[in-house]
Amino acid sequence: MRVGFVGVGRIGAAHAQVVRDHPAVTAVRVADADPVRAGKVAAELGVEAVATPADAFTDVDAVVIAAATSAHAELMIAAAAAGLPVFCEKPVASHVAGTRAVLAAVEAAGVATQIGFQRRFDAGYVAAREAVRAGTLGEVRRLHLITADAEPPHPSYVPTSGGIYRDCHIHDFDILRWVTGREVATVYATGANRGAEVFAASGDVDESAAVLTLDDGTLATLQGSRYNGAGYDVRMEVAGTAGTYVVGLDEHAALTSAEPGVTFPGGTPFREFWSRFRPAYEAEIAAFVDVARGERDSPCTVADALESFYVAEAATLSRNEGRMVTIEEIRA
Ligand SMILES: NC(=O)c1ccc[n+]([C@@H]2O[C@H](COP(=O)([O-])OP(=O)(O)OC[C@H]3O[C@@H](n4cnc5c(N)ncnc54)[C@H](O)[C@@H]3O)[C@@H](O)[C@H]2O)c1
Repeated sequence: MRVGFVGVGRIGAAHAQVVRDHPAVTAVRVADADPVRAGKVAAELGVEAVATPADAFTDVDAVVIAAATSAHAELMIAAAAAGLPVFCEKPVASHVAGTRAVLAAVEAAGVATQIGFQRRFDAGYVAAREAVRAGTLGEVRRLHLITADAEPPHPSYVPTSGGIYRDCHIHDFDILRWVTGREVATVYATGANRGAEVFAASGDVDESAAVLTLDDGTLATLQGSRYNGAGYDVRMEVAGTAGTYVVGLDEHAALTSAEPGVTFPGGTPFREFWSRFRPAYEAEIAAFVDVARGERDSPCTVADALESFYVAEAATLSRNEGRMVTIEEIRA
């Protein structure tokens, strides 16, 4: 399989290495709006740099899009027009209209798609989902989700990211749906600007919180940060009438117990997403190779991603207007 890449920044370069190392992959071509960056990554990986996205879509069997979020929709639609199976990083677009346009384009073209919600491949989230499905936790009543970066992204990332709910918490919204099998009904979200000026200047926040109600009345709370000094902290608690599961509570958890004599967790916290989720990223790329070869169904389609995007959009609107927002309002 020959794979074209568009966008080889922080995550694109890491994905490109995983793709290059996949035994089914024979060639990788990388393009980036910054040609110096494309050339540097290509040289480091021993793959070919090409000048434009159109070049990356030529003479390949599948494409991976890991450019800035604001470029995803146009690139996804171009990949669909070229008839190529496409893996795209989350979110699919910066807005609902763009996400719907991508969905229409990929459905009309009949191309296979996979969106980069790697938590669906993480062992802890998989175990939590199975426990919910098996009834091990009894009736699920409450969830708590945290996505906190140790350091903020580089300043040029922020204005094109879509904001913390579409950029970071979209992972929480996706995994909340995936683990519980329920849809979000309402969102009340808020946020604060405590960090660099670029967040406020982009209409974004760097500290976030939300309360969500699922369609069966289950309550979920959410917190996020771009400045979690203790480390990269991604966790989910699922509490039911018969038990509670916690994802992300191991030796690496970015926590210190205040209880005298308690030394857990004693390991080194992760500082960023790649080291925390590396096995999941590798598994999602392996799945995409199978999806592109027609050997399995997509584990995360554009239609799935649209559902989580509705929640992110509702959270953004809720924070902007200081009111509870229903997902129906966004869907309509
Ligand atoms: N799944 C995850 O855990 C995860 C983690 C980080 C980032 N992401 C997503 O991956 C995407 C990239 O994030 P990043 O952190 O690598 O950002 P980044 O800013 O480090 O890299 C983005 C790259 O895209 C290039 N680019 C921008 N517009 C382009 C265009 N029109 N055509 C070609 N190249 C273009 C930039 O030059 C840059 O090299 C974002 O959509 C982000 O939401 C996902």
